Amino acid sequence: MSMNIVMLGPPGAGKGTQAERISATFGWKQISTGDIFRAALADGTPLGLEAKKYMEAGELVPDEIVEGIVAERLKEPDLEDGFVLDGFPRNLHQAKALDRMLEENGSKIDLVINIAVDTETLVRRLSGRRVCKKCGANFHVLFNPPSKAGICDNCGGDLYQREDDNEETVRRRLKVYEEQTEPVVSYYKPSGRLVSIDGTGAPDEVFMEIQSAINKFSGGATT
Ligand code: AP5
Repeated sequence: MSMNIVMLGPPGAGKGTQAERISATFGWKQISTGDIFRAALADGTPLGLEAKKYMEAGELVPDEIVEGIVAERLKEPDLEDGFVLDGFPRNLHQAKALDRMLEENGSKIDLVINIAVDTETLVRRLSGRRVCKKCGANFHVLFNPPSKAGICDNCGGDLYQREDDNEETVRRRLKVYEEQTEPVVSYYKPSGRLVSIDGTGAPDEVFMEIQSAINKFSGGATT
């Protein structure tokens, strides 16, 4: 079964955590625009340095940059079996650009998963998040701690706190989400492919709900 999925939800809702699980379970490739920028920054590329100033301020990287990156990525052959977009689209301009990109590729979005979580939980999740420098795996000091503090369970890499996970930047990211990304939810509503999931439960519970949605919508997906 092949399926193309968009993950929506505020910062800290669990888009990355759940996209990783979907990818591991179904083999559909995860495309995280945030991860692409962080990798570029770690490599010190011009793209990384350009993205850095927006990311550290909690603002969106300009549409022309992110849309160009996604358009190129969507042309790659490893996505034939499906993909999970995590962090894109993030405003109406990007949502419309995505529709055009997919149309050009003869493809479409089969399911949009909107993960809902209240603001105080989001702030708690983001301030406790730790990320592996080497493989990018996500942990949380309280909710999903690694077996050994500061060390990744998957690859043994060092864990770090993201620059944009300080409380001030988190609040700005949430405001940007409300103003620019929330309208994307309404954009997808009429398509009948939007499913809202309560993201406040444990990661396994949230994933069970997501699996049910995938099963329900897989009838319409490309086989
Ligand atoms: P990005 O990396 O996409 O960040 P984000 O959208 O702010 O989302 P997060 O990664 O913070 O949260 P998440 O929902 O993935 O949650 P996670 O699973 O990690 O973007 C960063 C920046 O890049 C943007 O601000 C922007 O500048 C730029 N950018 C990226 N895409 C862009 C675009 N399209 N256009 C323009 N600019 C763009 O979980 C969070 C924590 O909670 C973790 O510690 C996790 O372990 C824990 N957790 C997860 N699920 C649960 C659960 N169910 N219960 C308890 N804890 C949980």
